[in-house]
Amino acid sequence: MDDFGIHDGISEVIFTTISPDGIPNAAPMGLHNKEGRLFVRIYNSKTLENITSKPVAAANIVDEPVLFVQSALSDVEPERFEFVEGFPVLKDAMGWILFECKCKKGENISVVELSPIKGKINTRKLLPVNRGFNAVIEASIHATRYVVFREQEYIERIEYYNSIVKKCGGAREKEAMGLLYELIGPKK
Ligand SMILES: Cc1cc2nc3c(=O)[nH]c(=O)nc-3n(C[C@H](O)[C@H](O)[C@H](O)COP(=O)(O)O)c2cc1C
Repeated sequence: MDDFGIHDGISEVIFTTISPDGIPNAAPMGLHNKEGRLFVRIYNSKTLENITSKPVAAANIVDEPVLFVQSALSDVEPERFEFVEGFPVLKDAMGWILFECKCKKGENISVVELSPIKGKINTRKLLPVNRGFNAVIEASIHATRYVVFREQEYIERIEYYNSIVKKCGGAREKEAMGLLYELIGPKK
């Protein structure tokens, strides 16, 4: 996991999975690495349904803010996937790890234990910390909650992170925030 930059703690990646009728899906997920144990906690979602029917998932390591927002709040266009031995991964991933999944089902949240099968590193970039990028990730998490609960507190948090994007982000981060506001719909 170290070679892929997956260290102790939670790494924000984009999970790709496939439905029984072969439709690829992408959604951001927090990949937990706790003393070598790899798992993800998944709320009821398309990702969970897909893993339940086919217990395989790829963790795509991505540095594109727009892709995080799009996959969190909407669908990713089919042309952004490529298939490796019949399984979808993201073309723009810096790398990906394919996992076999063992799902402990819960009522609202399930714990999915992950065993690596194989992986690929497409690029090794230097990625200096950008607060704007990190702020898009934080805003996206609050946005996924806002679309479910429609509570004002999430909007306030999104606005706070947007102020950091405006200050520290580049064109990609600003575009991602524009898409985020579009996808969460009108505010209450
Ligand atoms: C950075 C980030 C991390 C996320 N991590 C998780 C997670 O660990 N577990 C989870 O269930 N949802 C997580 N989400 C929310 C899902 O990505 C979101 O609910 C998504 O719409 C699920 O899509 P799906 O129905 O296509 O699977 C995260 C969202 C973001 C933006």
